[in-house]
Amino acid sequence: MERTYAMIKPDGVQRGLVGEIISRFEKKGLKIVGLKMLQIRGEMAETHYGEHKGKPFFGPLVDYITSSPVVALVLEGKDAVSVAREMMGATNPLKAAPGTIRATYGMDIGRNVIHGSDSTASAEREINIFFKPEELTSYKRELEAWIYE
Ligand code: RTP
Ligand code: MG
Repeated sequence: MERTYAMIKPDGVQRGLVGEIISRFEKKGLKIVGLKMLQIRGEMAETHYGEHKGKPFFGPLVDYITSSPVVALVLEGKDAVSVAREMMGATNPLKAAPGTIRATYGMDIGRNVIHGSDSTASAEREINIFFKPEELTSYKRELEAWIYE
């Protein structure tokens, strides 16, 4: 089982999409093992999006992600990193596959509703930025046999 970091961005929270998005992950079969709302402040944003420092969209990206609260999630499941990314769709909502979260709810690359870790290494790094180990849970669901063979 793999863990990934997902985050409903400020636009998703403001637009009242938290429930619908979390519901998609739950219905898919991903297990929620971490969940909280927080407001990202400057340094945390720069750490999280450090790989984009120096790019033209970095400033606006930090402004956007710190503009209003986000909902942070740790999701667990088989190939959770790629499963969650597939569910989110391409970075630009206009290029995202139909039915994905970004295609369904987004219009602009700079307001693309959700973030997902792009690799297991990123997932580990990002989970550590947003969650203390004791904030993550580990539990067994009785329906596991109905989700995985
Ligand atoms: P994320 O990290 O937020 O899940 O998005 P991603 O992997 O699909 O895309 P990434 O390349 O990591 O970009 C991070 C966020 O920066 C904004 N962006 N704007 N204007 C632009 O060309 C541009 N490129 C990226 C997006 O909000 C993207 O989610
Ligand atoms: Mg990314």
